Amino acid sequence: MSFLEELERRRTFGIISHPDAGKTTLTEKLLLFGGAIKEAGAVKNNKIKKGATSDFMEIERQRGISVATSVLAFIYKDKKINILDTPGHKDFAEDTFRTLTAVDSVIVVIDVAKGVEAQTEKLVEVCRMRKIPIIVFINKMDREGKDAFDLLDEVEQKLGLRVTPLSFPIGMGYDFKGIYNIWGKKLNLFSADNKQTVSEGVEFSDLDDPQLDEIVGEKAANELREELELVYEVYPKFNNEEYLQGDLQPVFFGSALNNFGVKELLDCFTEIAPTPQPKMAEERLVDSKEEKLTGFVFKIHANMDPKHRDRLAFVKIVSGVFKRNAPYLHVRNNKKMKFSSPNAFFAEKKEIVDESFPGDIVGLHDTGNFKIGDTLTEGEILNFKGIPSFSPEHFRYVNNADPMKSKQLQKGLDQLMDEGVAQLFTLDINGRKIIGTVGALQYEVIQYRLEHEYGAKCTYENLPMHKVCWVDPDDIKNEEFKEFRRVKQRYLAKDKHNQMVFFADSGFTIQMTQSKYPSVKLHFTSEFE
Ligand code: G4P
Repeated sequence: MSFLEELERRRTFGIISHPDAGKTTLTEKLLLFGGAIKEAGAVKNNKIKKGATSDFMEIERQRGISVATSVLAFIYKDKKINILDTPGHKDFAEDTFRTLTAVDSVIVVIDVAKGVEAQTEKLVEVCRMRKIPIIVFINKMDREGKDAFDLLDEVEQKLGLRVTPLSFPIGMGYDFKGIYNIWGKKLNLFSADNKQTVSEGVEFSDLDDPQLDEIVGEKAANELREELELVYEVYPKFNNEEYLQGDLQPVFFGSALNNFGVKELLDCFTEIAPTPQPKMAEERLVDSKEEKLTGFVFKIHANMDPKHRDRLAFVKIVSGVFKRNAPYLHVRNNKKMKFSSPNAFFAEKKEIVDESFPGDIVGLHDTGNFKIGDTLTEGEILNFKGIPSFSPEHFRYVNNADPMKSKQLQKGLDQLMDEGVAQLFTLDINGRKIIGTVGALQYEVIQYRLEHEYGAKCTYENLPMHKVCWVDPDDIKNEEFKEFRRVKQRYLAKDKHNQMVFFADSGFTIQMTQSKYPSVKLHFTSEFE
């Protein structure tokens, strides 16, 4: 197969949802269709159970499973599908944001009874900002839930999407009879007993066909006709271009647990979802069809064996072919590197491969050379954009609890920060170190891993701050900036890239600071124009 054929057959995406909406179940059903697994239950549930904040076994178990399920790949109708796993737990939201930099599209799973939930809102906002194409899957139709039209309204309003249903349910919960597949013009009837097999559905080119009444009953048939009429009237017609540009979002209904509506979703997805997309670097736009290799690290995972500190760096290939043992430039370190055992992912396994193509993810063994955001090329100086740090929401001073082990502590902290577990800031005024995280759980993970992997001990001191803002370095010479720096000295620090940040103890402080020093630009992410 030629390079372009390989590229055209790849679909790399992520599934996002609020915990418990059915992401794991849907992933598993997709893998079943790809023949990548033989039975349900093969994909381990990678959720951290609620309330398990101090269960270290659980954290360790999570680390193990999430390496295995970080990337799940399968072949369906000759397409190579790569699913990038995103942790549902809110304390790992930053990990999910970063993974979204490596997907070409997403599927959002929504629970029909719960509707749009908090975590979904946050994640979809990030996708919208980046114009990532989105398909919505409304799950658990076998349960009583919200009315389909109400739910479509909610999705439009809360998520700011412009939707077009490509399937429509007939009843729900106890009365759930099936779905009409608008995309394929087919009717599929639901049977909860038949979870693993999928009926081909009955084709209806004309909904007035009396056969419809015979199959679902006159009442349901008429209801469906009316509802579909409304759908055609109210919602825009599906248009692939608009979907690819992030301006229109198709919606499917189904039940992942019962394997219902999943095939319709997958069939449509493989047809409409984007092939590997171009990516913006600081220097230029890199097209996926370029023959020279480029790629970037979006995730680093520590090895399960704490005695060997090697890690797995996940590289998304943007262009060209990644070849085993070929020399590539690690741009930040300005160093040539070769990889003798790059891992590719298939179903829930990983294996060494000779070649990988745009859209694919390779796992590279790393002894501490990589940081998140690093770029690999064949020699060109390129730095891919779009892997910003977001402001953490929890802050604590970190203290060394064993003065004999200060080197180990420093090394451990550096490496954990490279992995993206949390963010480290150094206060300008006294050099004290502050760890910022999205959730409280990370502090326990850090403490535990410092002790078990690096032999270092730390304690924390709470720092009641609201957010950090990145300060635009272009402002440094202006007078107002000098004044800002003098007055706010105690609240200024550097992040890991030596970029200046301002610690704000409340939203009000941010507002006040902005109005007092209007020419000083404060940003909530580390990357800004
Ligand atoms: P997540 O990864 O998004 O967190 O969700 P997950 O797939 O683990 O699903 C959460 C719960 O919802 C699971 O039940 C799962 O069986 C159930 N579920 C998923 N899809 C459907 C569906 O279409 N219909 C119904 N009725 N339930 C669904 P659980 O009891 O939490 O776990 P388990 O004991 O079944 O594993």
